[in-house]
Amino acid sequence: MSAKNIIITGGAGFIGSHVVKRFVKNYPDLHIINMDSLTYAGNLENLTEIELAPNYEFIRMDITDSHAVNAFFSSRPIHGVIHLAAESHVDRSIVNPIEFVMTNVVGTVVLLNAYKTFGHTDQGRFYHVSTDEVYGTLGDEGKFTEQTPYQPNSPYSASKASSDHFVRAYYETYHLPIVISNCSNNYGSHQFPEKLLPLMIHNIKNKNPLPVYGKGENVRDWLWVEDHARAIEKIYFEGKVGETYTIGGNNEWKNIDLVYKLCEIMDRKLHRDLGESCKLITFVTDRKGHDFRYAIDASKLEKELGWKPSVAFDQGFEKTIDWYIENKNWLDHVTSGSYTAYYESMYSKG
Ligand code: NAD
Ligand code: DAU
Repeated sequence: MSAKNIIITGGAGFIGSHVVKRFVKNYPDLHIINMDSLTYAGNLENLTEIELAPNYEFIRMDITDSHAVNAFFSSRPIHGVIHLAAESHVDRSIVNPIEFVMTNVVGTVVLLNAYKTFGHTDQGRFYHVSTDEVYGTLGDEGKFTEQTPYQPNSPYSASKASSDHFVRAYYETYHLPIVISNCSNNYGSHQFPEKLLPLMIHNIKNKNPLPVYGKGENVRDWLWVEDHARAIEKIYFEGKVGETYTIGGNNEWKNIDLVYKLCEIMDRKLHRDLGESCKLITFVTDRKGHDFRYAIDASKLEKELGWKPSVAFDQGFEKTIDWYIENKNWLDHVTSGSYTAYYESMYSKG
């Protein structure tokens, strides 16, 4: 019998590349197809360690191209889909919401339709990887659970909320076997340096200003990306069809405290005087509609599927910083070309 085909969309991005590598290594009997259009955030350098694996295949495809997607799904049996492809950066969504509607909403519906029409839906599932930002913002107390009403505040989170609703609608209307997860902020290797941590690491290395939005009081919950990938693996195989799982690190940090911690560690690693990098901190205009706090109650996932974070934050954080310091070429490649123009347009006005 031939191997089951699982499509992982967005597998050249930050989280997707960790998920693809995990599935390729752990499941030699599955054929893993990485479907990615390679936007600025997609990078095949993230996948070099598995690119020659016999159970791995890369296909460059835009998920909004329904003709191409349908043709691909009808060309061979597709047993399951793990859907991560997205426009993922909140700041970019504030500048250009339409792109987020196209990829995150239209692209998701194109995939749902293709899987419903051509997929071997009795032998897999459509797993939609989503974000805790769909729930809006918290005050000082409380945590998001699977029951928290949706209240997205940014164009990014509105597009992800919409895609979540479509996925759920395909379950209710067509009985498509779906699962959804909503996760908090991931940190780890291979993250594009538009997001807080790799951007700050890159700037500290180059002794450039560290742009902290507002007063840096906003709070995020941080999860080691490999722990997210582990949760995705568990939910894909063991999650209950039709259900949602929230995923988090139980690890809340005020942005400014996290940046201070990062500066301190980087000073040590780069053999600089303690306190040198903190001097680079610059408070800049706040993000529009900036959600104050995210926190996750992941007890459903813990109780039902036995998942919990495996890596202590101090350990994961050091490992992450080491990776960006040791992988200078990777950081140089992704910050060349259009990155400079992006950075200028976002940060030159302070
Ligand atoms: P990313 O921006 O690093 O990667 C996105 C990937 O999707 C890239 O490889 C890109 O080329 C691909 N892509 C974008 N548009 C596409 C299109 N039209 N067709 C095909 N491929 C396309 O994103 P990430 O941070 O790895 O996030 C992955 C998923 O996880 C997203 O759905 C995001 O909403 C979700 N998520 C992210 C976080 C986080 O902290 N980064 C947390 C929770 C959920
Ligand atoms: O919560 C999950 C979400 O986490 C994911 O769905 C998103 O894809 C992912 O990008 C992330 O969203 P955030 O907006 O929380 O991440 P970001 O790294 O952009 O910002 C983290 C915090 O740091 C946020 O409060 C804004 C702040 N920030 C960010 C940048 C880029 C700064 O203060 N300065 C910056 O330059």
